[in-house]
Amino acid sequence: MAAQQHKETLPRHVAIIMDGNGRWARKRHLPRQAGHVAGVNAVREVVRAAIDAGLEALTLYAFSSENWKRPAIEVGALMGLFRLYFRNDIHEIAELGARVRIIGNRTRVDPDIRKMIEESEHQTAGNTGMNLIFAFDYGGQEEIVAAVRELARAAKEGRLDPETITPELVSSRLFTNGLPEPDLVIRTSGERRLSNFLLWQSAYAELLFVDTLWPDFGRAEFMDALEQFTQRERRFGALPEAVA
Ligand code: IPE
Ligand code: IPE
Ligand code: MG
Repeated sequence: MAAQQHKETLPRHVAIIMDGNGRWARKRHLPRQAGHVAGVNAVREVVRAAIDAGLEALTLYAFSSENWKRPAIEVGALMGLFRLYFRNDIHEIAELGARVRIIGNRTRVDPDIRKMIEESEHQTAGNTGMNLIFAFDYGGQEEIVAAVRELARAAKEGRLDPETITPELVSSRLFTNGLPEPDLVIRTSGERRLSNFLLWQSAYAELLFVDTLWPDFGRAEFMDALEQFTQRERRFGALPEAVA
């Protein structure tokens, strides 16, 4: 409720690098997979908190294009959890009025997952509530390269004058086309890097690194992050209001 009072300074779009599942499990002498299972519960809680706070968009980094480098057994467990989450939660997400979008490379995931992704997007396409975006098999550099390749092809075929390429045009070729850029990027688990997440879109995002491991991140931690965002002064290269 406190966040509702600050609605004018709330971020429109929050993006989260959900990190620390493995360390959460290790602390408990559990297999890494148990950390991922616990992480799904944190996803559920944070999605509801974000909807309650009235955000326009929430993006969750669920699997990076580099996470394929992990042992097959862990990749398999993560894919299994993704399947379970979508099967069990999509109805509730739809009822909450959220619109689901998955950003990432769809050609490498199993066909049944691709089908689930398409169905969940289709099922929620008419919703007008929060945009709930999962970055899944996502890599920021790969996303930018795909956009560049598309523009280069259009130029080569004479459909595009290279002089007319603007930041807006590039943005419109990214997976996030139509969404506001993230105002706040949160990374859990104490790591201080972006790991190829929303590289273009985060140009002016506020970054918040918290030590909490992802499975321990819940509604209270999320609301605290929103509160911290309201204390930041964003300048976008201009002078602060008091000086200008
Ligand atoms: C984040 O937790 C989940 C994914 C990357 C899919 P990690 O699995 O990276 O957990 P740590 O970093 O090893 O603790
Ligand atoms: C980033 O976490 C990817 C996700 C949270 C899905 P990683 O744990 O894969 O990142 P690095 O390897 O520590 O940079
Ligand atoms: Mg990690």
